[in-house]
Amino acid sequence: MTEKSSNISQTLKPVFLIGFMGSGKTTLCNALAARTKLKSIDLDDYIENVAGMSIKEYFSLYGEDSFRHLESESLKKAAAEGFNLIACGGGTPCFNNNMELMNRLGKTVYLHVPNERLFSRLVIARDKRPLIAKLDDDSLRRFIADKIAEREVFYRKALHIFDASQLEDEDQIERTSALFIEKYL
Ligand code: S3P
Repeated sequence: MTEKSSNISQTLKPVFLIGFMGSGKTTLCNALAARTKLKSIDLDDYIENVAGMSIKEYFSLYGEDSFRHLESESLKKAAAEGFNLIACGGGTPCFNNNMELMNRLGKTVYLHVPNERLFSRLVIARDKRPLIAKLDDDSLRRFIADKIAEREVFYRKALHIFDASQLEDEDQIERTSALFIEKYL
């Protein structure tokens, strides 16, 4: 176990990665877990396991309100199960006082990425995301601008804000995760 991982494992306080869809929460979480051996979970995967179906299917069967309830319950459970790194969904901080819960339980880090970069990542990754799956390019651009404006008030309650715009290839992921580990783990 590295010195870095023993530090955080001892405190047992989870680090919550938050930010908009496409901000790199999953990518960074996987890279951090591989480098530190910390116990990590992607909340969307956790929810899909509990629900026994994809998030897209869950949305279309039960709707967003029910999803947000399941998301909050899953967040609490994941934190209680001792995960050190938790990659949240893009909407997690914005419902049911989840942001307050995360700030109480651990360390929140907002992965900030400029809108245009979010667009270039999401334009090729719409399919599995129910909120944007049916949007054309122009609507996606507008959706990003509008939702970010609405959600930033929640995201900015994070303890830290981290520039996650450089995650486009393995070199960038390496540099960005090294910086993240230095700062927060
Ligand atoms: C959502 C983001 C998704 C997923 C769900 C809703 C949102 O997670 O939780 O589709 O409201 O922004 P990612 O941010 O991992 O795509």
